[in-house]
Amino acid sequence: MLDEAVLNRALRVQGWMRREGLLWLAEKAEGKDLVVEVGVWRGRTTTVLSSVAERVLAVDTWAGAPNIDATDKIVQRIGADELFSEYCFRLQTEIRLGSLVPIRIDSSKAGEIMSVYMCGQEADMIFIDGDHDRLAADLAVFAPLVKRGGLLCGHDYSGRFPAVMRDVEENVPGFQLGPAAIWWKEV
Ligand SMILES: C[S@@+](CC[C@H](N)C(=O)[O-])C[C@H]1O[C@@H](n2cnc3c(N)ncnc32)[C@H](O)[C@@H]1O
Repeated sequence: MLDEAVLNRALRVQGWMRREGLLWLAEKAEGKDLVVEVGVWRGRTTTVLSSVAERVLAVDTWAGAPNIDATDKIVQRIGADELFSEYCFRLQTEIRLGSLVPIRIDSSKAGEIMSVYMCGQEADMIFIDGDHDRLAADLAVFAPLVKRGGLLCGHDYSGRFPAVMRDVEENVPGFQLGPAAIWWKEV
């Protein structure tokens, strides 16, 4: 069960996922062996996922995305290398324990390398919150990595991100909506 202190720590990290979305993610990831997170930014969602799952593989470039509020400005101000360092510092305990593995790569190029990190295991859950103009490309790479009966989900199914809505509707038949603009499907 998600510790209230962890939830509050996550909410103090700059990000966009609201409290009810974090609670939903925690409930779904609880006790799972392997969760893959695509688009992790400064670690708000990772803080929650890595506190309840056995292992999280976290994919990001830490270079932001021009279509998401303020990320490009923050990257210009702070720098992608520094954002990556900050993420690793913030989550150093989980990284040291091996329960969190940050993978710094463009998600569209991650297909081959994921098989190395996953060591033949399939993911119990994949949460996608990366480039909101390229969700279809992320789905092509990551959806096949989810085990049968596993959970494929993502953020920002909302009118603010019509490309996310389109790509979910076209590529995830039978999807459902959760709190805080989360879309999901058991595959
Ligand atoms: C909305 S933020 C993720 C927020 C995070 N899930 C949270 O709630 O704390 C989107 C992230 O996607 C990353 N991103 C954008 N395009 C990417 C790409 N092609 N490959 C990997 N990461 C990407 C950005 O660097 C950014 O960190």
